[in-house]
Amino acid sequence: MKLKRTRPCGGLRETDIGSPVVLSGWVENYRDHGGVAFIDLRDRWGLVQTVFYPDLAGEGHKLAHTLRSEDVISVAGRVHRRPSGMENPKLPTGEIEVYVEELELLNRSQTPPFSRYHSEEVNPETRLKHRYLDLRGERLHQNLCTRSRIVKVIRDYFGEHDFVDIETPILGRSTPEGARDYLVPSRVNPGRFYALPQSPQLYKQALMIAGFERYIQIARCFRDEDLRANRQPEFTQVDVEMSFVDQEDVINLTEGLFVRIFNEALGLPLAAPFARISYDEAMLKYGKDSPDLRFDLEIKDLSDIFAQSSFGVFKAAMEQGGCVRGINLRGAGEQLSRKDLDDMTPFVKQFKGKGAAWIRMTPEGPQSPIVKYFSPEEGAELYRRMDAKAGDVLIFLADKTEVVCQCLGELRLFFGKRLKLYGSGSFSFAWVVDFPLFTRDPRTGRPTPTHHPFTAPHGEDREKLKTGDYYSLRSQAYDIVLNGCEAGGGSIRIHDPQVQGEIFSIIGIDQAEAAEKFGFLLEALRFGAPPHGGIALGLDRLIMLLLGEESIQNVIAFPKTQRASCLMTDCPNTVDEEQLEELKIALTLPETQGEPSIRGASNEQ
Ligand code: AMO
Ligand code: AMP
Repeated sequence: MKLKRTRPCGGLRETDIGSPVVLSGWVENYRDHGGVAFIDLRDRWGLVQTVFYPDLAGEGHKLAHTLRSEDVISVAGRVHRRPSGMENPKLPTGEIEVYVEELELLNRSQTPPFSRYHSEEVNPETRLKHRYLDLRGERLHQNLCTRSRIVKVIRDYFGEHDFVDIETPILGRSTPEGARDYLVPSRVNPGRFYALPQSPQLYKQALMIAGFERYIQIARCFRDEDLRANRQPEFTQVDVEMSFVDQEDVINLTEGLFVRIFNEALGLPLAAPFARISYDEAMLKYGKDSPDLRFDLEIKDLSDIFAQSSFGVFKAAMEQGGCVRGINLRGAGEQLSRKDLDDMTPFVKQFKGKGAAWIRMTPEGPQSPIVKYFSPEEGAELYRRMDAKAGDVLIFLADKTEVVCQCLGELRLFFGKRLKLYGSGSFSFAWVVDFPLFTRDPRTGRPTPTHHPFTAPHGEDREKLKTGDYYSLRSQAYDIVLNGCEAGGGSIRIHDPQVQGEIFSIIGIDQAEAAEKFGFLLEALRFGAPPHGGIALGLDRLIMLLLGEESIQNVIAFPKTQRASCLMTDCPNTVDEEQLEELKIALTLPETQGEPSIRGASNEQ
């Protein structure tokens, strides 16, 4: 490299007119106007127009004619004002251009498989294979820069609050967060495996026992679970733990962090405290434990009205211990066709619903296939309860309570979007608190921890551990929800080894198993464990939501596909026989599978 860059392309302004500069970057495009070559030169900071006059640029003028998009060059020249009328108000550098006196070609580029302007139209597999080219595109590039700014704000915030940043092991023991572990075989201990951390949960608790009091880590976590738009097999948590705190302290600290992120990294105002809602209320009013509060459409319980109904569908659901609930789609009459309403039935079938009913409120009275089944009293109470007015559409579901919650929860989200009840740049945070400590595992019928087994029961409910009334026991766990997506979760932990032992036994981990799997924790809790608690924020998910991205892949530099593979580096991949032998591992692949391949799946994303 002969020419050494002195200024960024995107940083030049009117005040630089007359200055000599050396710029480096990629050829964005090339135009020739009557023998004068114009090249937009791009670097990380932006674009600037460079001009090659034959007499001024000398040899460089000839070379410029051979340049193509994405070639890498340096130019030396001087900044000039653009001729009047030739300014480009769309570019921050649009007032000026650089007359080139010398050109150095640093590298040629083959024709890229897609242009950085049109990658959205390209098949996702090609984009991921050439991820380094896709990352040249403005949107992904900016996303990663914003991510970096947010991480800096996070580090500053915790630094100012006296948190200690501590790295915990990647090769460790299984931490139960409800997913499958990624395993790593140990060569020196054949037949033994490390588990990659699903979270640093046990280590951060050990650090509280060690007396650090305030721990933060931007931690990589690994979970082998079904992937969706908001999940990756490896992802990053902002992992926090504190001693001598209660739920309020963790909530206040987290709200303070969000306010800082909004103000400093995004330049947006944010009001705290955030809304707070109990788990029970969230399920009742929104059908989900991660309610989207950008819009209303509250679910109303109507079960008591229809307890004795003569309408078979509602009556059957009530007799089976279920419920009848509904939503008033206020003023939506004009916007929804009969087909839209009938389409609710196939929609709810995806979520095990049998059907959904509707009533259109018109100036002439209610119109619906089901009103004829209602008694006048039932109808009157229903319209009163739902505050129904002409122009509204009421929708209902009758079924088992879980099914009603899920179907109406999904219908609520569907109509919220369909009826455009919120703007694209709106943010709504909410804390969901008072989660049940246990949830019934549908497979085993046994209690399982709703959060994880180290979560403390609600002080007031602790007696229920003894009485066996497990499912009504509330926990000191809390989730932070942003626009209907769980952005983080945490809890106050158990610091009493006896209570921890009781929880293990309730979830079916007997003493021997508890000693084998969590003996170190039970032992550590006996050496003066302080009361402690914390939270983990899903950093990738959070950034996805803040940037209004639909997929978590768009905020991660090198994401995995839905089949947990990286198409750029072609992994996971096979390994040499020798490596397997060293690890004392034999493969038992089914015959049909042949050579393992990660390509060619239709749903690669
Ligand atoms: P939890 O399991 O709720 O809690 O995880 C915390 C947050 O991490 C994010 N997250 C994910 N993001 C992307 N891809 C995934 N596969 C994925 N899984 C989880 C979510 C989630 O809210 N140790 C506890 C925290 C604690 O108690 O302090 C824990 O890991 O945004
Ligand atoms: P049917 O008697 O099956 O023809 O249903 C009568 C009406 O009730 C139709 O409008 C169905 O969409 C609706 N419906 C069916 N099952 C349910 C349900 N579980 N909850 C609410 N409405 C239902």
